[in-house]
Amino acid sequence: MEMLDGKLVSQSVRDDLKKKVEARRNEGKKLPHLAAILIGNNGASETYVASKVKSCEEIGFRSTLLRLPADIPEETLLEHIDILNRDSDVDGILVQLPLPAHIREQQVIESIRVDKDVDGFHPESVGRMVQGLPAFLPATPYGILLLLEHYKVETKGKHAVVIGRSNIVGRPISILLNRNDYPGNCTVTVCHSHTPNLKEICLQADIIIAALGRPEFLTADMVREGAVVIDVGITRMPDPSRKSGFSIRGDVHFDSVAPRCTYITPVPGGVGPMTIAALLMNTWKACIAKDTN
Ligand code: GUN
Repeated sequence: MEMLDGKLVSQSVRDDLKKKVEARRNEGKKLPHLAAILIGNNGASETYVASKVKSCEEIGFRSTLLRLPADIPEETLLEHIDILNRDSDVDGILVQLPLPAHIREQQVIESIRVDKDVDGFHPESVGRMVQGLPAFLPATPYGILLLLEHYKVETKGKHAVVIGRSNIVGRPISILLNRNDYPGNCTVTVCHSHTPNLKEICLQADIIIAALGRPEFLTADMVREGAVVIDVGITRMPDPSRKSGFSIRGDVHFDSVAPRCTYITPVPGGVGPMTIAALLMNTWKACIAKDTN
């Protein structure tokens, strides 16, 4: 069993970007600039956004963090996005999800300029991805691809089983693993809460992507010998022994599943850090795309 070390690969992506940013600085070119919008006081969202902004600073990107109150009217939020859309220094815009209930998520996603949509959530970005056209790929699926690529995990002709069909992870990773590229060329089965024979399907998988958000859901009896297991889960569980008061649990029962795998991602330190690396890659691409315009 080999660990797919997201922390290590993420660091290598960042080191590489840091060098490229330094070269741009020396050439007097505009530096990549990510604008993040955080609404309200969701603890997990605060942590993720802080981590995204800090990562930008570490590699020399510019970053703007816009913190807005939980009761902000949707219209005011859209005005903020419009200002960032028109700001030529801003390359990428992300609005951290989930949003407060009174704000229509789809309205917000569709208000972001497609060429600044570094989350890859805009329907036009998704459509382009589905058709295999150049597009910003959503950060978590893109991070998984970068991880598989780094470890040269064979995907061609494999049966990939995706558990979960969210717009953020399950659905896009199922499309990407199915495309005619590397990583890809998998036969993909997407399972969800209404799949009756989930265990039988998982037992046929060469690659399992667990992205349903239920801690330690995937157990050893659902995984065949030699499988590759990617754990996207990041549920916070109360843990008084920790200073933060919680620990992070994945969707995979790691201790029992790991011995059966050829490759597995740990939680934390697997997909999580790759998500940030992928976002930075998208922001970099958004910036350099303007060079030739
Ligand atoms: N919430 C959970 N994952 C994500 C993500 O990748 N991007 C944004 N904007 N919000 C999220």
